[in-house]
Amino acid sequence: MARKKIALIGAGMIGGTLAHLAAKKEMGDIVLFDIAEGMPQGKALDLSQCGPVEGFDARITGTNDYADIAGADVVIVTAGVPRKPGMSRDDLLGINLKVMKSVGEGIKNNCPDAFVICITNPLDAMVWALREFSGLPHNKVVGMAGVLDSARFATFLAWEFDVSVKDVNAFVLGGHGDTMVPVTSYTTINGIPVKDFAQIKGVSEDRIDEIVKRTRGGGGEIVGLLKTGSAFYAPATSAISMAEAYLGDQKRVIPCAAYVEGKYGVDGLYVGVPAVIGADGIEDVVEIDLSDEEKSNLKVSTDAVEELLVACKGLDESLK
Ligand code: APR
Repeated sequence: MARKKIALIGAGMIGGTLAHLAAKKEMGDIVLFDIAEGMPQGKALDLSQCGPVEGFDARITGTNDYADIAGADVVIVTAGVPRKPGMSRDDLLGINLKVMKSVGEGIKNNCPDAFVICITNPLDAMVWALREFSGLPHNKVVGMAGVLDSARFATFLAWEFDVSVKDVNAFVLGGHGDTMVPVTSYTTINGIPVKDFAQIKGVSEDRIDEIVKRTRGGGGEIVGLLKTGSAFYAPATSAISMAEAYLGDQKRVIPCAAYVEGKYGVDGLYVGVPAVIGADGIEDVVEIDLSDEEKSNLKVSTDAVEELLVACKGLDESLK
Protein backbone atom coordinates (compact mmCIF):
# COMPACT_ATOMS: atom_id res chain seq x y z
CA MET A 1 0.00 0.00 0.00
CA ALA A 2 1.30 3.44 -0.93
CA ARG A 3 2.20 5.75 1.91
CA LYS A 4 -0.31 8.36 2.92
CA LYS A 5 0.35 11.94 1.84
CA ILE A 6 0.06 14.82 4.24
CA ALA A 7 0.04 18.36 2.90
CA LEU A 8 0.81 21.21 5.27
CA ILE A 9 -0.29 24.59 3.92
CA GLY A 10 1.80 27.16 5.75
CA ALA A 11 5.32 26.18 6.74
CA GLY A 12 5.73 28.62 9.62
CA MET A 13 5.97 27.82 13.31
CA ILE A 14 2.98 25.47 13.46
CA GLY A 15 3.63 24.06 9.97
CA GLY A 16 7.23 23.13 10.82
CA THR A 17 6.17 21.53 14.11
CA LEU A 18 3.43 19.57 12.34
CA ALA A 19 5.94 18.27 9.81
CA HIS A 20 8.30 17.13 12.55
CA LEU A 21 5.56 15.37 14.51
CA ALA A 22 4.03 13.72 11.42
CA ALA A 23 7.46 12.50 10.30
CA LYS A 24 8.38 11.12 13.73
CA LYS A 25 5.10 9.23 13.78
CA GLU A 26 5.62 8.10 10.15
CA MET A 27 2.09 9.15 9.32
CA GLY A 28 3.02 9.40 5.65
CA ASP A 29 5.06 11.50 3.24
CA ILE A 30 4.87 15.19 3.94
CA VAL A 31 4.64 18.19 1.62
CA LEU A 32 5.25 21.61 3.17
CA PHE A 33 3.68 24.39 1.10
CA ASP A 34 4.22 28.12 1.65
CA ILE A 35 4.18 31.31 -0.41
CA ALA A 36 7.58 32.28 1.01
CA GLU A 37 10.16 31.12 -1.52
CA GLY A 38 12.87 28.80 -0.27
CA MET A 39 11.53 28.60 3.28
CA PRO A 40 9.44 25.41 2.95
CA GLN A 41 12.24 23.82 0.90
CA GLY A 42 14.78 24.76 3.58
CA LYS A 43 12.63 23.48 6.43
CA ALA A 44 11.94 20.25 4.51
CA LEU A 45 15.65 19.68 4.03
CA ASP A 46 16.42 20.37 7.68
CA LEU A 47 13.59 18.11 8.86
CA SER A 48 14.59 15.33 6.43
CA GLN A 49 17.99 15.29 8.09
CA CYS A 50 16.33 14.37 11.40
CA GLY A 51 15.36 11.07 9.76
CA PRO A 52 18.66 9.20 10.15
CA VAL A 53 18.95 10.30 13.77
CA GLU A 54 15.36 9.64 14.76
CA GLY A 55 14.92 6.66 12.44
CA PHE A 56 12.03 7.77 10.25
CA ASP A 57 11.68 7.19 6.52
CA ALA A 58 8.95 9.75 5.82
CA ARG A 59 9.81 11.86 2.77
CA ILE A 60 9.54 15.57 3.45
CA THR A 61 9.50 18.05 0.60
CA GLY A 62 8.96 21.80 0.43
CA THR A 63 7.16 23.66 -2.34
CA ASN A 64 5.59 26.90 -3.54
CA ASP A 65 3.44 25.09 -6.11
CA TYR A 66 -0.02 23.78 -5.27
CA ALA A 67 0.37 21.03 -7.90
CA ASP A 68 2.67 19.27 -5.40
CA ILE A 69 -0.16 18.68 -2.93
CA ALA A 70 -2.05 16.63 -5.54
CA GLY A 71 -3.76 13.59 -4.07
CA ALA A 72 -3.04 14.48 -0.43
CA ASP A 73 -5.03 12.38 2.07
CA VAL A 74 -4.85 14.99 4.81
CA VAL A 75 -4.32 18.74 4.52
CA ILE A 76 -3.54 20.83 7.58
CA VAL A 77 -3.86 24.58 7.06
CA THR A 78 -1.89 27.12 9.08
CA ALA A 79 -1.33 29.65 6.29
CA GLY A 80 -1.88 33.24 7.35
CA VAL A 81 -0.65 35.56 10.04
CA PRO A 82 -0.60 34.84 13.77
CA ARG A 83 -1.47 37.26 16.58
CA LYS A 84 0.88 39.79 18.12
CA PRO A 85 0.45 41.09 21.67
CA GLY A 86 -2.69 43.20 22.03
CA MET A 87 -4.42 41.57 19.05
CA SER A 88 -7.49 39.37 19.33
CA ARG A 89 -7.92 36.40 17.00
CA ASP A 90 -10.68 38.40 15.27
CA ASP A 91 -8.21 41.14 14.31
CA LEU A 92 -6.71 38.67 11.83
CA LEU A 93 -9.96 38.27 9.89
CA GLY A 94 -9.34 40.50 6.86
CA ILE A 95 -5.86 39.21 6.04
CA ASN A 96 -6.51 35.56 6.73
CA LEU A 97 -9.80 35.48 4.81
CA LYS A 98 -7.89 36.28 1.61
CA VAL A 99 -5.40 33.55 2.46
CA MET A 100 -8.26 31.04 2.93
CA LYS A 101 -9.51 31.88 -0.55
CA SER A 102 -6.25 30.93 -2.25
CA VAL A 103 -5.79 27.87 -0.03
CA GLY A 104 -9.39 26.72 -0.64
CA GLU A 105 -8.85 26.94 -4.38
CA GLY A 106 -5.55 25.10 -4.12
CA ILE A 107 -7.25 22.26 -2.27
CA LYS A 108 -10.26 22.15 -4.58
CA ASN A 109 -8.04 21.90 -7.66
CA ASN A 110 -5.52 19.39 -6.32
CA CYS A 111 -6.88 17.19 -3.55
CA PRO A 112 -10.68 17.43 -3.30
CA ASP A 113 -10.87 14.07 -1.50
CA ALA A 114 -8.65 15.12 1.41
CA PHE A 115 -9.62 15.50 5.05
CA VAL A 116 -8.85 19.14 5.80
CA ILE A 117 -7.98 20.45 9.25
CA CYS A 118 -7.88 24.24 9.61
CA ILE A 119 -5.84 25.92 12.34
CA THR A 120 -5.69 29.48 10.98
CA ASN A 121 -7.42 32.08 13.19
CA PRO A 122 -10.01 33.37 13.80
CA LEU A 123 -10.65 29.65 13.65
CA ASP A 124 -14.42 29.23 13.54
CA ALA A 125 -14.79 31.81 10.77
CA MET A 126 -11.72 30.65 8.82
CA VAL A 127 -12.77 26.99 8.78
CA TRP A 128 -16.19 28.05 7.50
CA ALA A 129 -14.64 30.23 4.79
CA LEU A 130 -12.16 27.51 3.82
CA ARG A 131 -15.06 25.06 3.38
CA GLU A 132 -16.93 27.60 1.26
CA PHE A 133 -13.92 28.38 -0.93
CA SER A 134 -12.87 24.73 -1.32
CA GLY A 135 -16.37 23.37 -1.92
CA LEU A 136 -15.47 20.14 -0.08
CA PRO A 137 -18.21 18.31 1.85
CA HIS A 138 -18.77 19.70 5.35
CA ASN A 139 -17.77 16.40 6.98
CA LYS A 140 -14.31 16.62 5.38
CA VAL A 141 -13.41 20.11 6.64
CA VAL A 142 -12.89 20.67 10.34
CA GLY A 143 -11.25 23.17 12.65
CA MET A 144 -8.72 22.43 15.34
CA ALA A 145 -9.68 24.22 18.54
CA GLY A 146 -11.38 22.03 21.13
CA VAL A 147 -8.49 19.58 21.53
CA LEU A 148 -6.18 22.50 22.28
CA ASP A 149 -8.62 24.38 24.52
CA SER A 150 -9.41 21.17 26.43
CA ALA A 151 -5.70 20.41 26.73
CA ARG A 152 -5.09 23.86 28.21
CA PHE A 153 -7.96 23.37 30.68
CA ALA A 154 -6.63 19.89 31.58
CA THR A 155 -3.10 21.20 32.10
CA PHE A 156 -4.22 23.91 34.53
CA LEU A 157 -6.49 21.50 36.43
CA ALA A 158 -3.75 18.86 36.72
CA TRP A 159 -1.37 21.50 38.13
CA GLU A 160 -3.99 22.74 40.59
CA PHE A 161 -4.90 19.27 41.86
CA ASP A 162 -1.33 17.95 41.61
CA VAL A 163 -2.43 14.91 39.59
CA SER A 164 -1.36 13.41 36.29
CA VAL A 165 -2.64 15.16 33.16
CA LYS A 166 -3.44 11.65 31.89
CA ASP A 167 -6.29 11.40 34.38
CA VAL A 168 -7.88 14.72 33.56
CA ASN A 169 -10.66 14.60 31.00
CA ALA A 170 -11.42 18.24 30.32
CA PHE A 171 -14.18 19.47 28.13
CA VAL A 172 -14.48 22.78 26.25
CA LEU A 173 -17.31 23.76 23.90
CA GLY A 174 -18.05 26.74 21.68
CA GLY A 175 -15.93 29.03 19.57
CA HIS A 176 -12.14 29.24 19.79
CA GLY A 177 -12.14 32.71 21.29
CA ASP A 178 -12.59 34.49 24.55
CA THR A 179 -16.21 33.29 24.62
CA MET A 180 -15.27 29.57 24.60
CA VAL A 181 -17.15 27.47 27.14
CA PRO A 182 -15.08 25.22 29.42
CA VAL A 183 -17.75 22.81 30.70
CA THR A 184 -16.95 21.81 34.27
CA SER A 185 -19.99 19.52 34.55
CA TYR A 186 -18.45 17.16 31.95
CA THR A 187 -14.89 17.54 33.17
CA THR A 188 -13.64 14.66 35.31
CA ILE A 189 -10.55 13.43 37.07
CA ASN A 190 -10.60 9.81 35.96
CA GLY A 191 -14.40 9.79 36.16
CA ILE A 192 -14.66 11.89 39.35
CA PRO A 193 -16.53 15.13 38.54
CA VAL A 194 -14.22 18.12 38.88
CA LYS A 195 -16.50 19.76 41.46
CA ASP A 196 -16.29 16.67 43.71
CA PHE A 197 -12.55 16.44 43.20
CA ALA A 198 -12.15 20.12 44.11
CA GLN A 199 -14.05 19.52 47.33
CA ILE A 200 -11.88 16.52 48.20
CA LYS A 201 -8.75 18.60 47.55
CA GLY A 202 -10.09 21.70 49.32
CA VAL A 203 -10.01 23.77 46.13
CA SER A 204 -12.64 26.54 46.10
CA GLU A 205 -15.19 27.16 43.36
CA ASP A 206 -13.63 30.59 42.84
CA ARG A 207 -10.30 28.93 42.09
CA ILE A 208 -11.96 26.69 39.49
CA ASP A 209 -13.54 29.82 37.98
CA GLU A 210 -10.08 31.38 37.77
CA ILE A 211 -8.83 28.29 35.93
CA VAL A 212 -11.76 28.53 33.52
CA LYS A 213 -10.82 32.17 32.92
CA ARG A 214 -7.16 31.31 32.38
CA THR A 215 -8.22 28.62 29.87
CA ARG A 216 -10.27 31.17 27.90
CA GLY A 217 -7.26 33.45 27.71
CA GLY A 218 -4.77 30.58 27.32
CA GLY A 219 -3.69 31.52 23.79
CA GLY A 220 -3.38 35.22 24.64
CA GLU A 221 -1.21 34.43 27.67
CA ILE A 222 1.29 32.72 25.37
CA VAL A 223 1.14 35.52 22.78
CA GLY A 224 1.92 38.00 25.56
CA LEU A 225 4.98 36.01 26.59
CA LEU A 226 6.32 35.16 23.13
CA LYS A 227 5.77 38.71 21.80
CA THR A 228 6.52 37.71 18.20
CA GLY A 229 3.79 35.17 17.42
CA SER A 230 1.38 32.68 18.93
CA ALA A 231 1.47 29.16 20.36
CA PHE A 232 2.69 26.41 18.07
CA TYR A 233 3.70 23.22 19.90
CA ALA A 234 0.29 22.40 21.43
CA PRO A 235 -1.72 23.53 18.39
CA ALA A 236 0.38 21.25 16.17
CA THR A 237 0.13 18.31 18.58
CA SER A 238 -3.64 18.75 18.75
CA ALA A 239 -4.08 18.77 14.98
CA ILE A 240 -1.91 15.66 14.62
CA SER A 241 -4.23 13.75 16.99
CA MET A 242 -7.16 14.66 14.71
CA ALA A 243 -5.27 13.58 11.58
CA GLU A 244 -4.43 10.25 13.25
CA ALA A 245 -8.10 9.71 14.15
CA TYR A 246 -9.00 10.14 10.47
CA LEU A 247 -6.17 8.11 8.95
CA GLY A 248 -6.61 5.27 11.44
CA ASP A 249 -10.45 5.34 11.33
CA GLN A 250 -10.19 5.57 15.11
CA LYS A 251 -13.71 6.97 15.63
CA ARG A 252 -12.41 9.05 18.49
CA VAL A 253 -14.73 11.51 20.20
CA ILE A 254 -12.79 14.73 19.82
CA PRO A 255 -13.82 18.29 20.60
CA CYS A 256 -13.32 20.26 17.40
CA ALA A 257 -14.88 22.96 15.26
CA ALA A 258 -17.34 20.88 13.25
CA TYR A 259 -20.19 21.92 11.02
CA VAL A 260 -23.34 21.87 13.13
CA GLU A 261 -26.78 21.68 11.60
CA GLY A 262 -29.71 21.40 13.97
CA LYS A 263 -27.87 20.35 17.14
CA TYR A 264 -27.17 22.66 20.10
CA GLY A 265 -29.73 25.05 18.60
CA VAL A 266 -27.17 25.86 15.88
CA ASP A 267 -28.02 25.84 12.19
CA GLY A 268 -25.24 25.90 9.68
CA LEU A 269 -22.22 27.09 11.66
CA TYR A 270 -18.80 25.75 12.55
CA VAL A 271 -18.70 25.54 16.32
CA GLY A 272 -16.64 23.67 18.90
CA VAL A 273 -18.52 20.45 19.73
CA PRO A 274 -17.60 16.85 20.54
CA ALA A 275 -17.48 15.00 17.22
CA VAL A 276 -16.62 11.47 16.12
CA ILE A 277 -13.64 11.46 13.74
CA GLY A 278 -13.10 8.37 11.58
CA ALA A 279 -12.52 7.39 7.97
CA ASP A 280 -15.50 9.48 6.82
CA GLY A 281 -14.15 12.57 8.49
CA ILE A 282 -16.65 14.03 10.93
CA GLU A 283 -18.93 11.01 11.30
CA ASP A 284 -21.20 12.42 14.00
CA VAL A 285 -21.69 15.45 16.23
CA VAL A 286 -22.48 14.41 19.80
CA GLU A 287 -25.11 16.56 21.50
CA ILE A 288 -24.83 16.57 25.28
CA ASP A 289 -27.18 18.01 27.90
CA LEU A 290 -26.10 21.43 29.14
CA SER A 291 -27.19 23.46 32.13
CA ASP A 292 -29.06 26.72 31.46
CA GLU A 293 -25.90 28.69 32.23
CA GLU A 294 -23.81 26.56 29.85
CA LYS A 295 -26.50 26.92 27.18
CA SER A 296 -26.49 30.70 27.47
CA ASN A 297 -22.66 30.77 27.42
CA LEU A 298 -22.72 28.66 24.28
CA LYS A 299 -25.21 31.05 22.72
CA VAL A 300 -22.87 33.99 23.42
CA SER A 301 -20.07 32.02 21.78
CA THR A 302 -22.07 31.03 18.68
CA ASP A 303 -23.39 34.59 18.32
CA ALA A 304 -19.78 35.80 18.28
CA VAL A 305 -18.97 33.26 15.53
CA GLU A 306 -22.02 34.36 13.55
CA GLU A 307 -20.92 38.00 13.73
CA LEU A 308 -17.58 37.03 12.22
CA LEU A 309 -19.31 35.26 9.33
CA VAL A 310 -21.29 38.43 8.62
CA ALA A 311 -17.96 40.31 8.56
CA CYS A 312 -16.49 37.71 6.15
CA LYS A 313 -19.48 38.07 3.83
CA GLY A 314 -18.97 41.84 3.90
CA LEU A 315 -15.35 41.37 2.86
CA ASP A 316 -15.86 38.82 0.07
CA GLU A 317 -18.85 38.94 -2.27
CA SER A 318 -18.56 35.28 -3.25
CA LEU A 319 -19.39 34.21 0.32
CA LYS A 320 -22.90 35.74 0.27
N1 APR B 1 -0.48 30.75 1.29
C1 APR B 1 0.37 29.93 1.94
N2 APR B 1 1.06 30.29 3.01
C2 APR B 1 0.90 31.54 3.46
C3 APR B 1 0.03 32.45 2.85
C4 APR B 1 -0.68 32.01 1.70
N3 APR B 1 -1.51 32.82 1.04
N4 APR B 1 0.09 33.62 3.54
C5 APR B 1 0.94 33.44 4.55
N5 APR B 1 1.44 32.17 4.50
C6 APR B 1 2.43 31.54 5.38
C7 APR B 1 3.51 32.49 5.87
O1 APR B 1 4.49 32.67 4.86
C8 APR B 1 4.02 31.76 7.08
O2 APR B 1 5.14 30.94 6.79
O3 APR B 1 1.80 31.08 6.56
C9 APR B 1 2.85 30.85 7.50
C10 APR B 1 2.33 31.15 8.90
O4 APR B 1 3.33 30.83 9.78
P1 APR B 1 3.64 31.69 11.11
O5 APR B 1 3.63 33.14 10.75
O6 APR B 1 4.85 31.12 11.74
O7 APR B 1 2.32 31.44 12.00
P2 APR B 1 1.97 30.18 12.92
O8 APR B 1 2.43 30.44 14.31
O9 APR B 1 2.38 28.93 12.25
O10 APR B 1 0.37 30.32 12.96
C11 APR B 1 -0.39 30.17 11.79
O11 APR B 1 -2.33 29.44 13.02
O12 APR B 1 -2.80 29.49 15.29
C12 APR B 1 -3.00 30.11 14.07
O13 APR B 1 -3.30 32.41 14.70
C13 APR B 1 -2.43 31.49 14.07
O14 APR B 1 -3.50 32.14 12.04
C14 APR B 1 -2.26 31.74 12.61
C15 APR B 1 -1.88 30.38 12.06
